[in-house]
Amino acid sequence: MADLSLKPDVIVVGGGIIGLSAAWQLHRDGIDVVVLDPAPGTGASHAAAGMLAPIHEAYWGETHILGLNLAASQAWPAFADALGVDVVDYRRNGMLMAAYDADDKALLDNLGDLHEQEGLPVERLRSRECRSREPLLAPGVRGGVYSPLDHQVNPRRVVAELLSRVPTIPVSATQVARNQVATDDGRVMACQQVVVAAGAWTGRLLGVPIRPIKGQILRLNGPEGLLRLPVRGVVRGSSVYAVPRSDGEIVVGATQEEQGFDTRVTAGGVYELLRDVLALLPGLSEIDLEETWAGLRPGAPDNAPIIGTGDDGIVYATGHYRNGILTAPITATAVAALVQGRQPPVDLSPFSPGRFGAEPIGDPPNTEHLSGVTA
Ligand code: FAD
Ligand code: GLY
Repeated sequence: MADLSLKPDVIVVGGGIIGLSAAWQLHRDGIDVVVLDPAPGTGASHAAAGMLAPIHEAYWGETHILGLNLAASQAWPAFADALGVDVVDYRRNGMLMAAYDADDKALLDNLGDLHEQEGLPVERLRSRECRSREPLLAPGVRGGVYSPLDHQVNPRRVVAELLSRVPTIPVSATQVARNQVATDDGRVMACQQVVVAAGAWTGRLLGVPIRPIKGQILRLNGPEGLLRLPVRGVVRGSSVYAVPRSDGEIVVGATQEEQGFDTRVTAGGVYELLRDVLALLPGLSEIDLEETWAGLRPGAPDNAPIIGTGDDGIVYATGHYRNGILTAPITATAVAALVQGRQPPVDLSPFSPGRFGAEPIGDPPNTEHLSGVTA
């Protein structure tokens, strides 16, 4: 734990995977950094399945997000190597998307057209080919798409490893400015640069339209290797996925709900996930249901993250929505570049904090009482 009396170069507000990865990159660059979070690692990053899936998360009309996600995927091997590939259970075994019925197959074919248009390396598979890749699939599946570029990691292990490498202080930021943070224990901390990575809660600190998008998710446990591959299914129009870890855990997710800051697990949410995943992978019905959970994805109106320096001088790293695990390493490199005045690894203009217009959404942050403190 860091000493509050010391003045760090950089304060990162928010200790989810985004804030911790950014802090770790800054630390590796020789910068004195501290992360403020009353409960680090307990937000969306604790819920996440850990798919690193630029292709299976590609949607029509979001090609700028696809570009970022593809670059993010390429940043993962070095990031995982530095943390320990086995420690974080980083696995590059591709991902299968399978259609349950004929209508679902039409939806997949439509996505296949997008893959083709973008020149993405996917294989379209018939039913039998799907089942030879993943024998647990129901015999009736109509076909699928295999993507060798979509990988996976255990996000809880990533966060635990990052937490062992960067200093954190268990306080909440109540107000932020470029070089000062007021905390809920009545202190004001000064630094050279503030980075805000407060996930779904960012809109409470800064005038950006980030909202929480709830995801309920399950953890099953069975024999190791029961499920060979991560499988994403389209089942009667709904999306469901099952991601196997090397220790036998299988993560089944996830709902997508606009419920504000509610993180209750509901009977209906669990029912829908089990109904759809067991239709697709009936062999999972006999294994243990070990955990039900819900987390809040940080979402912007255009589904793209917010990464950049705002007019307020604060560095923003938020809004990573469905792909914050995938994009953590590249966001970390981008944040470190912004803080140090270097060229970011990708064009950040589509992700700028100012793209929603000059008018802040909601109440602007009150920074009046911070003005007397200098870094
Ligand atoms: P969080 O992990 O939510 O962290 C934000 C942190 O900020 C929290 O620890 C919170 O305590 C802290 N905080 C908030 N306010 C303050 C404050 N005022 N002061 C100090 N600290 C504060 N992404 C993928 O890439 N692949 C997946 O397979 C995947 N699956 C998902 C499944 C589910 C069910 C969900 C919910 C999300 C999934 N995601 C996935 C998305 C991913 O989890 C998020 O995009 C990512 O975790 C966001 O990270 P974050 O650090 O921004 O937010
Ligand atoms: N990326 C998977 C999810 O957000 O549920």
